[in-house]
Amino acid sequence: MNKESGNDMEFKHNPFRFGGDLGSDELVDRAEETAQVEATIRNGEKLFLIGPRRFGKTSILRAADEKLTRSGAIVLRLNAEAFPTVEMLVEKIVTAAAVRLKDRVEARIEKIGKFFSRLKPEFKYGGAGQELSVSIGIDSSALENRPVKPLADALDGLEKLARTQPGSRPVGLILDEFQTVVTRGGDNAEAQIRAAIQEHHRVGYVFAGSQTRLMTEMTMNHDRPFYRLGSNRFIGPLPKAEFSAHLLKQFRRSGFVVANDAPIENILSLAEEVPYNVQMLAHNCWEELRARGRSQPAKLTGALVVHVLRQTVKGLDPLFTQTWTRLTSVQQRALISVIRRQGSGITSTEAARSIGLPVPSVQSALRSLHEQSILRDDSFAGSVRTRFDDPFFAEWIRVTVM
Ligand SMILES: Nc1ncnc2c1ncn2[C@@H]1O[C@H](COP(=O)(O)OP(=O)(O)O)[C@@H](O)[C@H]1O
Ligand SMILES: [Mg+2]
Repeated sequence: MNKESGNDMEFKHNPFRFGGDLGSDELVDRAEETAQVEATIRNGEKLFLIGPRRFGKTSILRAADEKLTRSGAIVLRLNAEAFPTVEMLVEKIVTAAAVRLKDRVEARIEKIGKFFSRLKPEFKYGGAGQELSVSIGIDSSALENRPVKPLADALDGLEKLARTQPGSRPVGLILDEFQTVVTRGGDNAEAQIRAAIQEHHRVGYVFAGSQTRLMTEMTMNHDRPFYRLGSNRFIGPLPKAEFSAHLLKQFRRSGFVVANDAPIENILSLAEEVPYNVQMLAHNCWEELRARGRSQPAKLTGALVVHVLRQTVKGLDPLFTQTWTRLTSVQQRALISVIRRQGSGITSTEAARSIGLPVPSVQSALRSLHEQSILRDDSFAGSVRTRFDDPFFAEWIRVTVM
């Protein structure tokens, strides 16, 4: 190895990452949240993890999964949103259970066949990776009124299977973007899932969701089946001081000059402290500094941050254009109103009138924008403000159409 490669590598590798899972050593804060996910699974409890998109839920789940798995636990972690049907999700749960079991293949097939018998599992074994895969033989036409029945059966099977495991081995199911199951599963979904899992004490369940309104309503309203089924944990912004210290350290370590906290503050505020957007903006600033700093060390300044934000938003133009043109004129006007009023009082008569709409139209447009993950609620100091899931989309609207 060449002597200089250490420093050189540090300089060449962009330390800011967005999208994709971060390693647990790259996460700022979130130790408590990660520990709570771990404890839930170790203790066979139930936890709802609720927070807007881009705030770091999946990163927390992954970090907890890594730790638990390293210590010998059986953890199934799946993103419900990735599966087009409940049956496909169920198939994946059963397959993942079969793969995680520590027995020989024959024993695994026997156990899965026994505990998941209601799903009529069929096994395939072989292929390049010598992986075991399971398909389920349920007749979806028989499920008309109970689309989540197979899921309830799978969860029952998992509990039975977990009971055959040594007491020291935790078993957990982590379902990310859990609200998808409920919205796809229809009216009875919640009651069926509750009926299946309320008596389970061996499997720990963690259900995460980005639709904060829906998830909150589902777990906090005493008329709903999930009321008091488990604990709730809300994932808020990262502690500002720690996030800013992290950013500062990474820029300086790369050899860039950061005279004071001001440009770091700019990054955080322009990205509205949304972790994903902060990382993206920091990432792009880093690339810009690297390009400029060929001859002398480049300096991070407020002006550079603003320049990079403009470039970043421009780079996302095709995406934002597509999102924007898919919206109805009423929805577009509602978004403009959210920006103009900085998210407050947008359902007032006066606000509605200013964009030429009756209040109920504004309300239904806002509901739909929440469901599309374009807007979210932000509670602070006892009031609720409407904000953009993606603050750069708001910036794009400001620059492009306002
Ligand atoms: N604790 C954290 N520290 C630093 N960056 C984070 C943290 N959590 C999230 N991020 C940033 O936000 C991005 C999105 O995180 P993710 O876990 O996918 O959010 P969610 O699942 O809530 O949508 C990550 O790829 C990373 O760039
Ligand atoms: Mg996620």
